[in-house]
Amino acid sequence: MISYRDFVPEHVDGVMAICRAEGWPSYIEDPGLTARALTAPGIKSVVALDEGTVAGFATAGGDGAIQAYLILIGVQEGYRHRGIGTRLVEEVHRRTGARRMDLLSTEGADKFYETFPYARKLPGYRIYPGAAQPSADV
Ligand SMILES: CC(C)(COP(=O)(O)OP(=O)(O)OC[C@H]1O[C@@H](n2cnc3c(N)ncnc32)[C@H](O)[C@@H]1OP(=O)(O)O)[C@@H](O)C(=O)NCCC(=O)NCCS
Repeated sequence: MISYRDFVPEHVDGVMAICRAEGWPSYIEDPGLTARALTAPGIKSVVALDEGTVAGFATAGGDGAIQAYLILIGVQEGYRHRGIGTRLVEEVHRRTGARRMDLLSTEGADKFYETFPYARKLPGYRIYPGAAQPSADV
């Protein structure tokens, strides 16, 4: 029986195991950093628990009213195709309090997202820190 709970730092090893299996390097550098990312102000993170095992997780952030963004979702391979990913999307979306939730991009999970009511969006931009080139006429 799977239960859905707010992420707490005790879940970080289970979350990192999923990230490691998926090859998501930013989330496996440092447990403290990953736990901070999943509990930051405005961020909602949910885990799917099978007894003590983290079977999956999802994290999202937003304005708490209108717009949310799905940041990351992963389900351990042995737990897939049991509706856990769908429920994680629903649970994390509900916790954001937003009307809608966008996803920047996906590599290979299109068929999963297309099982939800959705509108296709064009690929966006990932912006890194650093000074923009100043415009000559500012
Ligand atoms: C995408 C993912 C979260 C789906 O989790 P899940 O628990 O298997 O999802 P569900 O069981 O709720 O799937 C619901 C439906 O979505 C579709 N679906 C899910 N994963 C799919 C896949 N890899 N390929 C095609 N369709 C898929 C199927 O229609 C599925 O229904 P079915 O199992 O009856 O065929 C999981 O496969 C995963 O962690 N993948 C690796 C990480 C990843 O790609 N994350 C998304 C990054 S943007």
